[in-house]
Amino acid sequence: MNLTKRLEGKVALITGAASGLGAASARRLHREGAFVVVTDRDVEKGAAVAASLGEGAVFHKLDVVNEAEWIAVIDAVVAAQGGLDILVNNAGVGVLASVEDTTIEAFRFVHAVNTEGVFLGCKHGVRVMKARSGGSIINMSSVAGIAGAPDMAAYCSSKGAVRTLTKSVAMHCARKGYGIRCNSLHPAFIDTPMVDAVVNAHRDADRARAGLVKSIPLGRLGEADDVAAAVAYLASDDAKFITGVELPIDGGLLAQ
Ligand SMILES: NC(=O)c1ccc[n+]([C@@H]2O[C@H](COP(=O)([O-])OP(=O)(O)OC[C@H]3O[C@@H](n4cnc5c(N)ncnc54)[C@H](O)[C@@H]3O)[C@@H](O)[C@H]2O)c1
Repeated sequence: MNLTKRLEGKVALITGAASGLGAASARRLHREGAFVVVTDRDVEKGAAVAASLGEGAVFHKLDVVNEAEWIAVIDAVVAAQGGLDILVNNAGVGVLASVEDTTIEAFRFVHAVNTEGVFLGCKHGVRVMKARSGGSIINMSSVAGIAGAPDMAAYCSSKGAVRTLTKSVAMHCARKGYGIRCNSLHPAFIDTPMVDAVVNAHRDADRARAGLVKSIPLGRLGEADDVAAAVAYLASDDAKFITGVELPIDGGLLAQ
């Protein structure tokens, strides 16, 4: 596909970019011309993604639950690149358990990564983006942040919080006139290691995968690039009048 360089001159930081949707988003933003800061808690895989992009990409180790690491990485990016324009809060974890089976430790772990990690990203992202008079923050929620799934109590809760945190950040930045937009994405089942883990948790993984496919009106699992394309759109000036939006990328799942 021929892509325009609509992100030329922009600096983007993506969390959880060693795998799945984060890695696909890193590749897409890079192809559209952005300087890409690949971050992840997994140093080996994250560095490999940045190396595969070549010029115009670097890797920084960033565990999103660690506020000191957020400050150090964002400040290093601003010092080296002059600012930050795009922040994709993508890192996330899942625990498969109903409300009855979820331990408080598991609940807190999922919220620490999925919700507190996004909060820290927004807090420190806004701090530096406002100095640049603008930017785009994209928070990775899920269809599970809008609708309930019985075996994902902590995950649904953590992703629902991301949905309304996003709107609060969007309204704050609008009121302050910072020029920073903040939106959330809500993918359904996208073919990544995270969905592999979900289907492999079933006794019959093939049947579980077929069940997921059947639930999607468009009749297939999503591809990581389906999400990366939406990330690039929201990151770009094409979306300059869009803030506080929740965008499902779900093959029609939530429209039923
Ligand atoms: N795959 C799907 O179907 C799907 C659907 C809806 C939402 N999502 C969301 O999309 C995001 C990416 O999911 P994916 O499918 O690509 O998952 P993945 O497991 O392939 O990748 C997640 C990445 O996040 C990193 N990570 C985990 N905890 C971290 C932490 N504390 N700090 C930094 N990095 C950390 C992992 O090392 C990994 O590289 C997640 O937020 C997930 O909840 C995925």
